[in-house]
Amino acid sequence: MEHARHVVRVVLLVMVVLAVAFLARGFLVPRSYGMYGPYRYDNVREQMNVRRPAHAGPAACEQCHPDEATARKAGVHRNVSCEVCHGPFAAHVKEDGSVVTPTVDRSYTLCARCHRKVDGRPAGFPQVVLEEHVSGPVEGKVCLGCHNPHSPKL
Ligand code: HEC
Ligand code: HEC
Ligand code: HEC
Ligand code: HEC
Repeated sequence: MEHARHVVRVVLLVMVVLAVAFLARGFLVPRSYGMYGPYRYDNVREQMNVRRPAHAGPAACEQCHPDEATARKAGVHRNVSCEVCHGPFAAHVKEDGSVVTPTVDRSYTLCARCHRKVDGRPAGFPQVVLEEHVSGPVEGKVCLGCHNPHSPKL
């Protein structure tokens, strides 16, 4: 009996330590830990909130460039995003509202990227053999001489 008391004490001590550890864990482990895996899920939201998306979509350009926006919406390029040709919104309009004027790519290579005749392209997609399509040298802003980039169908 004398020896059993030691065992009871040790068992009690272990139970108290476990209870404290269990309670402490409840306070110390962040709420969203383990929600979707062994990491703190709230961190994903926090990281998203401190980053600014680079692209904003065509609607973001409308208020400042209504002419180009209207022309694009009415034409065949209605599904080609402004940012494909002009670069991301965030590089142009800064967070404080200031504007960095983007350099406009007027070269034929911009159009050729999508419209140069390539065997692998879907047959229905409008594409041209540049050298046959353009009378004269294929260089510089040659495409803009006939096509408006915001509404290119003639
Ligand atoms: C808050 C207003 C604002 C928004 C929004 C905005 N822009 Fe601009 N943009 C400007 C200003 C101001 C200029 C400078 C005009 C100048 O230099 O004469 C400019 C210039 C440009 C130019 C160059 C024009 C030139 O003459 O060289 C392009 C291209 C352009 N913006 C495209 C876009 C696109 C694409 C978007 C959407 C992704 C966009 N802008 C959104 C205000 C805006
Ligand atoms: C297919 C590529 C393409 C798309 C899509 C496109 N642009 Fe352009 N944009 C150009 C080119 C090329 C020029 C230069 C035109 C020129 O010099 O004749 C230009 C010129 C501009 C200019 C300057 C106008 C000027 O005369 O100085 C602005 C502003 C502009 N675009 C805004 C936009 C906005 C806003 C959108 C979307 C609503 C858009 N663009 C969509 C290719 C594009
Ligand atoms: C990011 C790809 C892309 C770029 C860059 C681009 N286009 Fe287009 N273009 C398209 C798409 C998509 C269509 C619509 C195709 C459809 O309706 O099937 C189109 C349609 C056209 C059409 C109408 C074809 C027809 O008769 O139906 C012409 C012309 C045209 N583009 C010329 C140009 C010119 C000129 C440039 C350069 C300033 C240019 N495109 C840049 C994607 C692009
Ligand atoms: C001399 C004027 C002229 C020049 C320069 C020109 N085009 Fe065209 N393009 C036309 C005409 C005209 C059409 C036929 C009418 C239409 O479909 O819009 C056409 C049609 C197209 C089409 C539609 C073809 C189809 O199968 O439906 C594309 C794509 C095109 N051009 C791209 C370009 C590109 C890219 C450049 C620059 C390398 C360019 N064009 C330069 C006059 C021109």
